[in-house]
Amino acid sequence: MKTHLINFCIIVGLALCSFTFPKIDLSFQAQKYVTQTLTFEGKTFTVRAYENIIYVANPVDTVYQKMNIYIPEEYFSGKKINGYTAETAPIFFPNKVGGYMPAQPATLKEMPMGGMGGNRPPMNGMPPMGERRPDGAPAMPQAKPSTVVAALAKGYVVASAGARGRTLKASNGEYTGKAPAGIVDLKAAVRYLKFNDKLMPGDANKIISNGTSAGGAMSTLVGATGNNPDYEPYLKAIGAANGTDDVFAVSAYCPITNLDHADMAYEWQFNGYNTYKRGGLMQTKNNDAPSVLSEEQIKISGQLKTLFPTYINSLNLKDSKGKSLTLDADGNGSFKDLVINYVIASAQKALDAGKDMSGYAFLKVSGNQVTGLDFGAYVSYMERMKTPPAFDALDLSTGENMLFGSATIDKQHFTEFGQKNAIGDASRVDEVFVKMMNPMYYLGQKNTTNAKHWRIRHGSKDKDTSLAISVILTTALQNKGIDANLEFPWDKPHSGDYDLDELFAWVDGLCK
Ligand code: DHB
Repeated sequence: MKTHLINFCIIVGLALCSFTFPKIDLSFQAQKYVTQTLTFEGKTFTVRAYENIIYVANPVDTVYQKMNIYIPEEYFSGKKINGYTAETAPIFFPNKVGGYMPAQPATLKEMPMGGMGGNRPPMNGMPPMGERRPDGAPAMPQAKPSTVVAALAKGYVVASAGARGRTLKASNGEYTGKAPAGIVDLKAAVRYLKFNDKLMPGDANKIISNGTSAGGAMSTLVGATGNNPDYEPYLKAIGAANGTDDVFAVSAYCPITNLDHADMAYEWQFNGYNTYKRGGLMQTKNNDAPSVLSEEQIKISGQLKTLFPTYINSLNLKDSKGKSLTLDADGNGSFKDLVINYVIASAQKALDAGKDMSGYAFLKVSGNQVTGLDFGAYVSYMERMKTPPAFDALDLSTGENMLFGSATIDKQHFTEFGQKNAIGDASRVDEVFVKMMNPMYYLGQKNTTNAKHWRIRHGSKDKDTSLAISVILTTALQNKGIDANLEFPWDKPHSGDYDLDELFAWVDGLCK
């Protein structure tokens, strides 16, 4: 009888506990760390490594909804690094998302892939990043330092969150990482950092989000959607910490974003260029042999291209002098001139740095001045990589189709064009999820706090998405009065974190 009573009390007690307290305590456990010694550019220093912190109270997937936080040891003894203290150090928040796949948080060990980790899946026939592209250039030089270690050496606190992605499945067979899961997770991680601001060195009002490609897109979403109520029910469901989720600044490399307009932007750029190289080791024998678009694909390219001017003209974008940025029905006009000017500025920067530019016949150079660009010849040098539609594939074959699946459907269309021209029967995702994956819809909106500072980079030889995508985003930000800066680093293929000195100089310029 006595044991029954004790058992009864234990069960009631446990039930009350789990009812009253969240399953996982979201307060930062300052004592749960491992000391790590790091070397960067000849300097040795130590950090406290807090790894595998589950950052939500009701995780769906504990393999991915976890965060690594690294804090320079000096901040625990009142010291300064690079002029920062425990109270003022920025929090660098890199994600490793690539291909909209599930992503682990960054660690101290890896190369600066910026979302380009070696475990990357093929996306639309692409090789995993880090492998050799058909143009012979490795996606990332392998001799560079780790982004995380370099950031720590600068005195930043580094917090990197994992996130769910498009292939994840629960044990009941339901998909758990379709849109918007990945961005919801990253926002929950930001909430964790802000919730714990007082318990942790680093200033949670100075969070700088960073990512490359799909991870760059995620970084732009973190920056654009701060505190927007669209995400609230999803954040509640996973038990995100209470509080705000806006961030201070965004670093994004080749963000594969604005997915609902990316097909038309791609054909605006590549229409008429009918050979393509998907790239890399995926193609077994004819690695370098280009393929040719079919008649049907050429027709689709033409149709998509004509949709783009209507989209651009609907945005009411303005240049820095307040002049409208538009396109005529052929895709020419002031918006295209702006894209060309970005390419020219990039070539000028390379020339100023002493690079021999004589091999680029599409550039007009007179003396020390890049004076013009043959856009068509430049696009031809870039080479088309994707077949139309590049993102919402008619046969649902892209990673983006998979991103926009649902709990029970693996792949769906996400544009009107994709659904109308679909091969066979296929469903289309609810529009709200397309919206929630596109930062453009959240700029200057009420109940939303956009990041104040943006640094966007898209390599001048990166054809994973149109150059127009980053130009549109940057211009829309600038038109809202937000500090946004875009460059197309010369000759860079699809990659990120290749200019850490410049990136961190930008961070220091904002935070010091
Ligand atoms: C990535 C690359 C792509 O070409 C794409 O469509 C989506 C994501 C990536 O590298 O993350």
